[in-house]
Amino acid sequence: MSLPDAKEPLLHEISVPGRRAYRLPPMDVPIAEAVSDLLPGVALRQEAPQLPECSELQVVRHFTRLSRLNFAIDTGFYPLGSCTMKYNPKVDDEIANLPGLRDVHPYAPADCVQGALAVLWQLERALCTLAGMDAFSLQPAAGAHGELAGMFICAAYHKSRGEPHRTRVVVPDSAHGTNPASAAMAGFDVVEVPSDHRGNVDLHQLRSVCDERLAAVMLTNPNTLGLWEEQMEEVSRAVHGCGGLLYYDGANANAIVGRVRPGDMGFDICHLNLHKTFSTPHGMGGPGAGPVGVARHLTPFLPSPRVQRVDSPGEATARYVLTSTPESIGRVRAFYGNFAVLVRALAYIRTHGGDGLAEVSGHAVLAANYLLALLREDLPPAIDRQPMHEFVADGTALARHGSLRAIDLCKALLDRGFHAPTMYFPLIVKEALMIEPTETEPREVLEAFAAAVREIVVTSTGADAPGSFPTETPIRRMDEVNAARHPVLRWNTTT
Ligand SMILES: Cc1ncc(COP(=O)(O)O)c(C=O)c1O
Repeated sequence: MSLPDAKEPLLHEISVPGRRAYRLPPMDVPIAEAVSDLLPGVALRQEAPQLPECSELQVVRHFTRLSRLNFAIDTGFYPLGSCTMKYNPKVDDEIANLPGLRDVHPYAPADCVQGALAVLWQLERALCTLAGMDAFSLQPAAGAHGELAGMFICAAYHKSRGEPHRTRVVVPDSAHGTNPASAAMAGFDVVEVPSDHRGNVDLHQLRSVCDERLAAVMLTNPNTLGLWEEQMEEVSRAVHGCGGLLYYDGANANAIVGRVRPGDMGFDICHLNLHKTFSTPHGMGGPGAGPVGVARHLTPFLPSPRVQRVDSPGEATARYVLTSTPESIGRVRAFYGNFAVLVRALAYIRTHGGDGLAEVSGHAVLAANYLLALLREDLPPAIDRQPMHEFVADGTALARHGSLRAIDLCKALLDRGFHAPTMYFPLIVKEALMIEPTETEPREVLEAFAAAVREIVVTSTGADAPGSFPTETPIRRMDEVNAARHPVLRWNTTT
């Protein structure tokens, strides 16, 4: 099969005046008032929009060809560490597409959408059970959005206790960039603490910032080195001992789901990226879902409204109502959040059940450890500890093979039909390659990936070709620095 051409013309370029994708039959009902009679003149455009004029087949082929330029989890292995690209079971799409769920209108009164509210309530209860939290808001549209809501909750809580001087949020130097960004956007001063030689947050340094200025410490566990934080109890004691809150970035919860609960680790606030752990499509900032959950003392501050179940004596079925609290930080998103994504997550949770989810996290960890064992010789781990669901390799080891760098290996993998791992993150590891196979990949795929790495390493030795990879993809090696500094974002730069 030949590769699609990256120089796919725009629909405007293949447009032919007068060509149409469809033809409607003549009207057999009276023509309603023209739009121009209904809208004020100022709202009407003076010229017709310049839309492309193409046949239906041209449009279908155009978009199909474009879709083939994309790398997708449905077409190949996608081991992006931290970003967790795992397969989304199609049955969840089918459930989200059931007419009773798909066609719900967000403005429908609560009495008319009791089934949809029951879905939201059930999902909230399931997340509480899995995370060990008291309540969740399903509104946030992404992990980063959940973090931001969590930071607003943290601020509201300290304010309610008359402690507005708690202005500092502490993050480890391995943290995902969204952690400090969310804290800063919520008005906190961000303080970074280093990691120790085992990849844990440095406890000594952490204790030194636990004082009356501390609002919260944000951690993810396993952390972004893919390693289990070994001193969770001490961390929790230090943070709570000085009146701070402990925030759990649940992006890596696919390593622990069904086995360990953030609430039991001592976390007060937690977001869960449903698109990572519960296998809904990944939104990268939305439209995903990053529900934010809290321990009991923070429940009143959650975004409103939330769905509550009311069981009245004498009534055969429960009712679901929307409630708000005066202390709530308010709405963080319109309506109920990304409803269709939430439905998929509940479907995923219910099809697996508690034991099934424990198997999911077990397989995610097993797959990462197996892949590390296969790759270790070429890509040793940056910190030699048993990883959880992902691991960070030290790409400087590639320099043993001529001039091969982490970026060259990634580009060469594209030629072999694999998506590249996450590279150059976390920032504390030089030439970092962060690899997350996820539980959904069969063993043969992991072995084929390891074999491809080996082959690239062996064939690159002594060659000065690495800089030219990839050679097989529709677009070849880009000048990434130039693209970042001088992005050309318009199709026709002459107009
Ligand atoms: C550790 C970690 N935290 C937070 C996020 C942000 O999540 P989202 O992409 O859903 O905004 C990510 C995303 O990759 C992540 O890996």
